[in-house]
Amino acid sequence: MDQHPFLRFAAPTAAALLALTTACTAGTVQGRPGASGLRDPYFPKAGNGGYDVRSYALDLDYRPDTGHLDGTAVITARAGQGLSSFNLDLAGLTVEDVTVEGEPARFNRTGNELTVRPADDLEKGEVFRTVVRYSGKPKTVTDPDGSEEGWIPTADGAVAVGEPIGSMAWFPGNHHPSDKAVYEVSVTVPKGYEAVSNGRLESRTERDGETVFRWRGTEPMAGYLATLAIGKYRVSTGSTPSGIPLYTAVVPGEAEASAEALGRLPDIVEWGVRRFGPYPFDSAGAIVEAQGTLGYALETQTRPVYPGAPNVDLVLHEMAHQWFGNSVSPRSWKDMWLNEGFATYAEWLWSEDHGGPTAEERFEAFEEGDTDVDAAADSDWWAFPPADPPGPERISAAPVYYRGAMVLHRIRQEVGDERFFALLRGWASDHRHGNADTAAFTAYAEKSTGRDLTGVWDEWLHGDGKPAR
Ligand code: ARG
Ligand code: ZN
Repeated sequence: MDQHPFLRFAAPTAAALLALTTACTAGTVQGRPGASGLRDPYFPKAGNGGYDVRSYALDLDYRPDTGHLDGTAVITARAGQGLSSFNLDLAGLTVEDVTVEGEPARFNRTGNELTVRPADDLEKGEVFRTVVRYSGKPKTVTDPDGSEEGWIPTADGAVAVGEPIGSMAWFPGNHHPSDKAVYEVSVTVPKGYEAVSNGRLESRTERDGETVFRWRGTEPMAGYLATLAIGKYRVSTGSTPSGIPLYTAVVPGEAEASAEALGRLPDIVEWGVRRFGPYPFDSAGAIVEAQGTLGYALETQTRPVYPGAPNVDLVLHEMAHQWFGNSVSPRSWKDMWLNEGFATYAEWLWSEDHGGPTAEERFEAFEEGDTDVDAAADSDWWAFPPADPPGPERISAAPVYYRGAMVLHRIRQEVGDERFFALLRGWASDHRHGNADTAAFTAYAEKSTGRDLTGVWDEWLHGDGKPAR
């Protein structure tokens, strides 16, 4: 007979039972504080312990002329332990009040941690609702590699991007990729402005000189992939041949230059479906900002943000992340090569499938150091192994992208095309809407292909320097 975990314990004594009943009837669940971080190897304070968020409902009001944001965040979460208090990550802004399960809660702030002390302790397993009312002028956060993210003012509005840590600048939450949740974002802006977020636009309502946009993402999303863009965009809608709705918002100055690449979106999504399996989300699109506003493009879920008109390769890269990074998300920031190596390899595959250099040719070029990838400060792809960036300032550095892609190509060389493409599809489907780390990938790759790939992992994934051939 199977052992039930309960039955391994000795039966409680009568006294213990009495104590238990008294505690329960008195409503004094004994909680302890949730951890202030998830001990990510690169961002130990990112995210928080003791609970798991199921949904965020953000109700925001933004005034582009003053840069003022008013927000209410309704966070529904499940306690993973008894909680006397728990933390949310929030940078800047003023918290007006917090309630938990409808009761006013005490709170205090230190650094980017908002600690909430509910009136009653929360029980392990309890699903509870926290409402945070906040306001202020959201700030731009500088991440360890010097990139500006968080809330970024633009010529006529603002845009939010958050990889790795910027999302805490515009809403309180469990800001670590391991805690994915569904989102509803409702945004009120003055009439004449657009507000664009992830997922589908459920409604757009005009009232008293204002427009209210209600966006909904029905599939789980990591917080760093949340976006909100407010401004005077040119919006267009459409759909892919298989019926995935498209919604793109482009600043007028970049419209012409963006037309060609954005026109390929349907092809890109359908190509991804053929190569990687079903598209993981119920919408797609793009947000294009003026050149110089943002330091990087980001694969924000369903609707990537571009710093100026993108080319086809960049759109392809960001859309490939919808499978690799957004649906299959990294367990920690150490697993970035599972995002960037895959999206870079997708570019090589796209090129191969469209009459450009093959992945094999790209791989050889990198091996020989003969590539047209710019020779920017950190474009030395042998500087460190892709699965072990030396610090948080290097999680988006060249080796994570290019050497990450080379790891995938080495697997392909070992196992052949049939097994390799089955592996890509299987990986996307096995971890669809979940999280995975490097060890899960290496184990999956060996299981899926039936090969011992130790040599590839040792040399290409974890080994220092340029592998000998
Ligand atoms: N994931 C983005 C891309 O591949 C890049 C984000 C870079 N973030 C950063 N802090 N440098 O397009
Ligand atoms: Zn990328």
